[in-house]
Amino acid sequence: MRQLLPPPATPADAAEVDLGALYDGERSGPAQRPWVMANFVASLDGSAAVEGRTRALSGPADRALFRRLRAQADVVLVGAGTVRAEGYGPVRGAGPAPIAVVSRSLELDWDSALFTEAAAPTLVVTCAGADATRRARAEQVAELVLAGDQWVDIGEAIVQLGRRGHGVVLCEGGPCLLGELVVADLLDELCLTLSPLVAGGTGPRIVTGAMLRAPRPLRLASVLEDDSDLFLRYLRG
Ligand SMILES: NC(=O)c1ccc[n+]([C@@H]2O[C@H](COP(=O)([O-])OP(=O)(O)OC[C@H]3O[C@@H](n4cnc5c(N)ncnc54)[C@H](OP(=O)(O)O)[C@@H]3O)[C@@H](O)[C@H]2O)c1
Repeated sequence: MRQLLPPPATPADAAEVDLGALYDGERSGPAQRPWVMANFVASLDGSAAVEGRTRALSGPADRALFRRLRAQADVVLVGAGTVRAEGYGPVRGAGPAPIAVVSRSLELDWDSALFTEAAAPTLVVTCAGADATRRARAEQVAELVLAGDQWVDIGEAIVQLGRRGHGVVLCEGGPCLLGELVVADLLDELCLTLSPLVAGGTGPRIVTGAMLRAPRPLRLASVLEDDSDLFLRYLRG
């Protein structure tokens, strides 16, 4: 891995990337809510999935960074679409952050490892309008977070996760959920891997949903390169 930005002091520093200095450390959100970061991967032509999954876009260095970012999180937030498409399991390892799944339909596999083998119990973020029978089933295997009436109010959900002691929320997808965080202006940090592939097709971008009249500015904090993958870290502009 090579560091391109910030400019390394010497050529030796460029090759000896200090990931800890670039990605670890204190993150504190604005008053009343946690820090919200997102980790995504995209092809050069902007596709966030190949044949409905991210596997083809993600190489060994991306997976290593994925794990490192998880270690920074107090809770990993994912949309139910991503859980279903990627077959999400629980975070493994010592002292893992729990996964929090956002869903209205509650059409989730309650017998999967995500709910039955999680060291840190999985959370389900849903709304009052969700089906009562499914809510009862969810409560048997997960901790329920209720935010919003007919659809999860994502701002309220983030505040509630903060009240549960989760100071850093890492969103791992998908595009629908990230779109909601962006619209609500809750995104503090975006870690984006640009995979050196041209995917074509009509795969989603990393953000879908409402078009913003005023696109949100982000500030480039660092750029790393490994085997033609680019690892971009942006912070709130
Ligand atoms: N490139 C990347 O880094 C990356 C990362 C993650 C995923 N992906 C890809 O993205 C695709 C999935 O995209 P997606 O946009 O469908 O995924 P998503 O954002 O993970 O899931 C959308 C689903 O999440 C739930 N949801 C989101 N916001 C909600 C809200 N405010 N209230 C209630 N429910 C809410 C709904 O679930 P219910 O339908 O259960 O109500 C909704 O259908 C997959 O192909 C996956 O591989 C790519």
